[in-house]
Amino acid sequence: MAEIICIIGNKGGTGKTTLSHLLCHGLTLLGRRAACVMTDEDREPVLPDGRRYVVADARSPHARDKVVSRLRELKGWIGVLDGGANRTDLDISLYQMSDIVLLPFRDSPEDYRAVLRDLDLFPKARALPSQWPRNRWQLDAANRMVDELPEDFRARVLPPIHSMSATKVLLQTRLQSEPGTALNRLAREFAQGVLGLFEEEASCVATALAQARAEADAEESDHP
Ligand SMILES: Nc1ncnc2c1ncn2[C@@H]1O[C@H](COP(=O)(O)OP(=O)(O)O)[C@@H](O)[C@H]1O
Ligand SMILES: [Mg+2]
Repeated sequence: MAEIICIIGNKGGTGKTTLSHLLCHGLTLLGRRAACVMTDEDREPVLPDGRRYVVADARSPHARDKVVSRLRELKGWIGVLDGGANRTDLDISLYQMSDIVLLPFRDSPEDYRAVLRDLDLFPKARALPSQWPRNRWQLDAANRMVDELPEDFRARVLPPIHSMSATKVLLQTRLQSEPGTALNRLAREFAQGVLGLFEEEASCVATALAQARAEADAEESDHP
């Protein structure tokens, strides 16, 4: 069965579309098969030309359900669902379809407010610092803002994706230029981090199962 990731959040311009493409590109560089699924009704879909991953137009609820159920049948694939802004109903539906949920946010007070609200609404989601500054002074200030988030939210913040203007290449309707070395490195690191989240989930499930088994055994030895 394919694994499904969604990149959602109420605020526009946080990097959902860019990160969806970056992740799909990175996954293919790691030898995985990926599909970038566009759900935002306000944007035009991009074409598959020149990309290493599949793109799917799933802007209607019907198309979304069809694409996701088709993907689910494809063993070894990873589907990345790119959300739309100001669409809590759509976000809830994408959240329910997904194994991993990412909420990008930029370094701005408005983004912090939006991501706190979304972390509250989506308990299994992780917050992803996006377009994170590279300049030392701005970086320190941005990291301080994250450090000041309430502890239970801070624990759900992933390592940042730094700002890189070359990411724009991936948003071209037709991919006209080959992604360069720096973009490939960023894509690969991001994809590796996300695959690590799947392993984390799997080990949490294994621990919970072992615990349940131990409790059942203890119960049985108490009441044979
Ligand atoms: N890591 C990044 N570095 C530089 N620019 C970025 C990065 N991520 C996104 N952007 C830019 O930010 C803008 C908004 O990104 P987009 O992916 O369209 O956000 P959303 O889909 O959340 O509305 C775009 O102009 C995009 O090129
Ligand atoms: Mg978008």
